[in-house]
Amino acid sequence: MNTADLNAYICDLPKAELHLHIEGTLEPELIFKLAARNHIAMPYASVEALRAAYAFTDLQSFLDLYYAGASVLITEQDFYDMTMAYLQRARADGVLHAEIMFDPQTHTARGVAIETVFAGIVRALRDARATTGISSYLLMSFLRHLSEQDAFDTLAAALPLRAQYADVWIGIGLDSAELGNPPGKFARIFARCKELGFRLVAHAGEEGPAAYVRDALEVLHVERIDHGVRSEDDPALMQRLIRDQVPLTVCPLSNLKLCVVEALSQHNLARLLRQGAMITINSDDPAYFGGYVGQNYLAVAQALDLNKRELTTLARNSLLASFLPADTKQRLLDSQDL
Ligand code: HPA
Ligand code: ZN
Repeated sequence: MNTADLNAYICDLPKAELHLHIEGTLEPELIFKLAARNHIAMPYASVEALRAAYAFTDLQSFLDLYYAGASVLITEQDFYDMTMAYLQRARADGVLHAEIMFDPQTHTARGVAIETVFAGIVRALRDARATTGISSYLLMSFLRHLSEQDAFDTLAAALPLRAQYADVWIGIGLDSAELGNPPGKFARIFARCKELGFRLVAHAGEEGPAAYVRDALEVLHVERIDHGVRSEDDPALMQRLIRDQVPLTVCPLSNLKLCVVEALSQHNLARLLRQGAMITINSDDPAYFGGYVGQNYLAVAQALDLNKRELTTLARNSLLASFLPADTKQRLLDSQDL
């Protein structure tokens, strides 16, 4: 298939996006617009100069720019505009349902109220659902470079909002600098969130070792692993992930840009998929890594020579691995002939 036909085939596949940081969807153009609106001086002369700075060597080199970019988000409308822009792009890529992470600590540390963050994001999610039908859930993520106490304080600040946002806020995640911040650091807060009935995910095995994936399962009791590509270093763990069909939310362009893999042709996702692992394709931080979810599918289809059946399996996996109710999942799968 030529690229245009392949792209059309991919966009038509009904899919869910399960690994997406909303702050990672802030395009340079929107960063400049919000900076002007909020009278914030930018350390870059132009959109092009900012984009040119997106040359990362590892996760931390990205996180430094990602947190700096997020500092232009001040008002409820800023969070709304960012979220709505993502939902429109996702919809164009054939996303029926998105499970979106956000990092409240990035904003509360700068004096933005957690109420403002929730209000802007959720208003966009509800508006997009009403106007386009795209459904979405929110996963509130703790920053693992911060302390356990900071995570507990964030949970305490967010819980009074839970009832008001119960239609979307269903889960908890764990992101930011992985190495040196093992899952065990967050064992107690994840146990508390589980007691509270939240669905649980965590980043593990992106830069960190396979042992962190094991700990995310055994210590944090997560239901999905974000990234997880280093699980293959531990064959017994990999067998378990396949046996239990634990979803891995893989982000190919992210892995390339953060030098987790040297080239997409060397990515292990096709091998793992062919071994029967529950692999899904996602965009992570698309404004920083060069592509939304459709472009991630396209890039791996070409680099790893995935056929139509494999692309359909990836899309099907994304719906199966979502936190949608079983009957909704089945309805989507049936109606879309997957
Ligand atoms: N890894 C860890 N933390 C993150 C990422 C990621 O890929 N994106 C945004 N925060
Ligand atoms: Zn991520």
